[in-house]
Amino acid sequence: MDYRFAARMRNAPESFLKKLFDVSSDPEIISFAGGLPDSNLIDVNGIKDSAAFVLDEEGREALQYTTTEGHLPLREYIAERYQKRLGISASADNIRIVNGSQQCLDIIGKIFIEKNDRIGIESPGYLGAIEAFSLYEPVIRSVEMNDSGPDLNAFAQLISDEKIKFFYGIPNFQNPTGRSYSKDTRKRIGDIISETDSLFYEDDAFGELAFNQVPRVPVNKYAPANVIICGSFSKTVAPGMRIGWIMAPREIISVFDAAKQAADLHSNYLCQKIMNHYLRNSDYDRHLKEVVSVYSRNCRLICDLLDDMADTGITHTSPEGGMFMTVNLPEGLSSMKLFEEGIRRGVAVLPGIPFYAGSGGEDMIRLNFSNTDEENIKEGMARLSGLLTDLSSF
Ligand SMILES: Cc1ncc(COP(=O)(O)O)c(C=O)c1O
Repeated sequence: MDYRFAARMRNAPESFLKKLFDVSSDPEIISFAGGLPDSNLIDVNGIKDSAAFVLDEEGREALQYTTTEGHLPLREYIAERYQKRLGISASADNIRIVNGSQQCLDIIGKIFIEKNDRIGIESPGYLGAIEAFSLYEPVIRSVEMNDSGPDLNAFAQLISDEKIKFFYGIPNFQNPTGRSYSKDTRKRIGDIISETDSLFYEDDAFGELAFNQVPRVPVNKYAPANVIICGSFSKTVAPGMRIGWIMAPREIISVFDAAKQAADLHSNYLCQKIMNHYLRNSDYDRHLKEVVSVYSRNCRLICDLLDDMADTGITHTSPEGGMFMTVNLPEGLSSMKLFEEGIRRGVAVLPGIPFYAGSGGEDMIRLNFSNTDEENIKEGMARLSGLLTDLSSF
């Protein structure tokens, strides 16, 4: 049968994830390739208590249809937390609950991108964003990331010359590199973008995972009318609940509502109510401290073990939060070869290729540090070290 798919599906980048999931399910392979938070840190008992409360006290309402906007008390909680943590003026009216922040990428793509519109993205950038936006057939312009964020001259040029619709970036503990924008870069981006009709899509999936728990000023603070900011409880509470949010100017939110309503009517109401009860009745800040203490320990251990491999010619980023880092490979060693050989030797890394909208990533891999315990990190890194020594001596 010759299925007549829409032409836009031809732009869907080949999914790397299927291959990855196959690999992750093999118990013999120690995987740094995935992107899962640590299951042991999910507060199952706390969520169970909140679920029991919601079902006992408000079960009939929680299991009914609701409005597209999302549960008001949860939106108020998010707005209050923005004010308290980041000092940005936030109102529940500007916040919508989505089915995981991944849904924001799709809906923002749907409401802003016309075929061949220009948009900007960090290089390397989040592969899930490249996949989501690509379906709307934009021309994607990449801006190289350095240690303090995207190259600002190239960024300014995209705004002034290319008139991009929006630039998608992750200022805190970026996926894949783990890098963060400096304070000055955040302000400069705000200054460059304000008074233009381009937007900055600020994906803050990892902002709460700062190892030192000190909040960083969002770009939103410097140009609120030009910034869409998205967040998620996936990395901090539980990804399976699929609760994320968007905060944006009212004009954007009303168009967003129309698209979200057409897509799914509303996000899972039961989970929204459980999340709201959980956040308000547990010690969320203490929970976050526990999460980052594990992730920072893992990250430090991996960085130290990678430093021990420096004579193979690798260099790596040193994240101060989040779940990911990248490793630059010695000249001539391809990330695909390292991936394929790694599988044979029982260690999985993620080649950098899908993190580039154009070409790139042959000389880089991403490592996840949230979902491997100390013993496996040591064994997995020993396997990687052996592999690098063997492959880089060719
Ligand atoms: C940068 C970034 N944004 C968004 C998402 C989507 O997360 P979720 O839909 O679970 O909120 C992810 C998932 O890994 C991510 O890394």
